[in-house]
Amino acid sequence: MIALEDVRKVYGQGEAEVRALDGVSLTIGRGEFVAIVGASGSGKSTMMNIIGCLDAPTHGRYLMDGITTGDLGEYQLAQIRNRKIGFVFQSFNLIARTRAVDNVAMPLAYRKVPRRERHALALEALDAVGLSSRAGHLPSQLSGGQQQRVAIARALVGEPVLLLADEPTGALDTRSSHEILDLFDALHARGRTIVMITHEPEVAARAERVVRMQDGRIIDDSALRSVAGGARIGGGAA
Ligand SMILES: Nc1ncnc2c1ncn2[C@@H]1O[C@H](COP(=O)(O)OP(=O)(O)OP(=O)(O)O)[C@@H](O)[C@H]1O
Ligand SMILES: [Mg+2]
Repeated sequence: MIALEDVRKVYGQGEAEVRALDGVSLTIGRGEFVAIVGASGSGKSTMMNIIGCLDAPTHGRYLMDGITTGDLGEYQLAQIRNRKIGFVFQSFNLIARTRAVDNVAMPLAYRKVPRRERHALALEALDAVGLSSRAGHLPSQLSGGQQQRVAIARALVGEPVLLLADEPTGALDTRSSHEILDLFDALHARGRTIVMITHEPEVAARAERVVRMQDGRIIDDSALRSVAGGARIGGGAA
């Protein structure tokens, strides 16, 4: 479902050149739950941004669902982001002074789903993350863990095939982190493909496959436990 082929991402030129990604090849199959780990600056977010069609490689190819993204224009990339991918960030990125339910409904507005249907689907998504009782609350009226659950509901409201999370528990206490990871487990059990960046080994241990990065390269790719049709040891599972 995801295939990076010798992907490089170079920032700057000459003396200032940074090889954020230095020849990364990776395939992730539908339904996998993959953790991306590695030191700060190793290229995790850069890779995630390419997987999420937020950024393009300087060299190499990225295929999403069999489509070579390099052939697409900005409008088509925006369509893929909106329809196929749900994003979750460390800092939640909710819109302030906007009720939880309206934050969740936002991706559907871009798709021109009628208002009433948007609202109903957003309430369903909030219910799925255990927050139906907070639909009318503003982000500032919610705990960090609750805000992240709203962000997850927003990521999932459009039924994306892929959930991308960059340090989703980085700003949360242990208990809220567990709630978020339990939610990811449940989503994974229902067949969702999840790619999650984390610094914390115990968070990575919740995935079924761990990809380790260093200096813009993948230095390890291991299955933590075998899941039928899922990860394979040594990476390269499609
Ligand atoms: N827009 C940019 N311009 C120049 N250099 C960049 C840019 N974005 C990232 N980099 C560099 O690319 C390298 C990889 O950055 P990236 O954000 O992918 O790291 P990361 O693994 O996500 O780190 P962290 O764990 O701190 O979030 C770093 O050396 C960073 O300084
Ligand atoms: Mg990062």
